[in-house]
Amino acid sequence: LFSAVEMAPRDPILGLNEAFNADTRTTKVNLGVGVYFTDEGRIPLLRAVQEAEKARLAAATPRGYLPIDGLAAYNTAVQALLFGSNADLLASKRVVTTQALGGTGALKVGADYLKRLLPDAKVAISNPSWENHRALFESSGFPVETYAYYDAESHGVNIAGMLDSLRALPPRSIIVLHACCHNPTGVDLSVEQWQQVLAVLAEREHVPFLDIAYQGFADSIDEDATAVRLFAASGLPFFVASSFSKSFSLYGERVGALSIVTGSADEAARVLSQVKRVIRTNYSNPPTHGAAVVSAVLNSAELRALWEQELGEMRERIRLMRTTLVEQLAVAGVEGDFSFVNRQRGMFSYSGLNAAQVERLKSEYGIYAVSTGRICVAALNSRNVAVVANAIAQVLR
Ligand code: LMR
Repeated sequence: LFSAVEMAPRDPILGLNEAFNADTRTTKVNLGVGVYFTDEGRIPLLRAVQEAEKARLAAATPRGYLPIDGLAAYNTAVQALLFGSNADLLASKRVVTTQALGGTGALKVGADYLKRLLPDAKVAISNPSWENHRALFESSGFPVETYAYYDAESHGVNIAGMLDSLRALPPRSIIVLHACCHNPTGVDLSVEQWQQVLAVLAEREHVPFLDIAYQGFADSIDEDATAVRLFAASGLPFFVASSFSKSFSLYGERVGALSIVTGSADEAARVLSQVKRVIRTNYSNPPTHGAAVVSAVLNSAELRALWEQELGEMRERIRLMRTTLVEQLAVAGVEGDFSFVNRQRGMFSYSGLNAAQVERLKSEYGIYAVSTGRICVAALNSRNVAVVANAIAQVLR
C-alpha cells in the first residue's frame, strides 16, 4: 500500500521548528515561526489567562460537547473585537461567527464552504503571502494565483500593481487579504489604499477573505481592525479568519474564529446552517478550554484591561527589538539602510536576505529564518539581538 509513497517536503515554517529542535548548538536562535517570546526567551503565559484558568479550574465545569459552531459567548466577544461593539451589522444580525481551530482552521472551514458556494472561482493571494495560504486554498480545490503586493525597492506596497492585478482577475474571484501586520512583509495598506482596493473589489464583485492573526500587534486592538471596519462599512459580503494564538499567547489551544458578513439576518441564518455542515463533517465541534478562557477574559472588564496591558507590553517589546536590531546592524558594520525594519508592523521583518544568506545563517550560525528572508523580530531579545546582527553582517559580506 505505501511502497510508492513519496516523502513530502518539510513545511516551510513549522518544518523549521523540527530542524531547530534537532540542532544541538547551544547558541541557536529560532527566528522562523511567528511566536512571541519574552526577553528571557520564553513563550509567556499571560496573567489574564492565568486568572481565567484559575477560575475555570475552581468552577470544575463538566466537559460536554460544545455546539457545532462553538461557545456563544466567545463568538459574540470575537464579533465585538473585530467589528466594534456598536457595529450596525452586529445589531442587524448580518454576521455569522463560528469558533475555529486557530486562524488556519478558520481559513480552512471558510475555504471549504466557499468551494461549495463558488466551485469555479479562482483564489488570489498577495505576492508574497503566508506560505500556508496557497496550500490551504489549493487543498480545498481552488486554483491559486497571486496579486502584486510588495515593492522590494521601496519596502512598501505596490498599490498600482495590486489594483491592476485585482482588476485583471475574473469577476467573483476570492481575494485573500491580510487585515493588519502583513505576513511576511510587515507592510500594510493605508486607509486610502484600502479604500482604493475596496472600490475595485466592489466593481469586480470579488469576494474578500480577510486574515487577521495579529490584531493588537501594530497599534492597538481598534486601530488594527481598521480594514475590517472599512469592509464592514462598504456593505460588501466578506469573510474574516481571526486568531488568538498570538494575541493571547495560546498557540497550542487553537483558538480562532471564522466570521462571514452577509446581507441580512435571514442570509446569515442560512449561511450558518451550511458552515455548520462543513464543521460537523470535519471535526464535529471545537474544543472548549481555549475559547472558554478567551471568552472569560474578554467578558470581564478587569481581565480585559489586564490583557490589553499585556498585549501592549508585547507590542512595545517587539518595537524595541526592531530599533535595537537596526542599531546593532550598524554597530556590526552593515552599511545598507535597514531603517525600513522600524516601519514594518507586527511580528515579522522581511529582511531582504536571500535564500542562500538564510541558509548560511542556519548552517554557520544556528540562526533559523524562513527562506524568503522573513525573520520573527518577536523572538529577538536583549541577549541574542547582537549575535543575530553580527551573523547577518557576516552573511551580507
Ligand atoms: C507563522 O507564520 O509563522 C505563524 O502564522 C505560524 C504558522 O502557523 O505558520
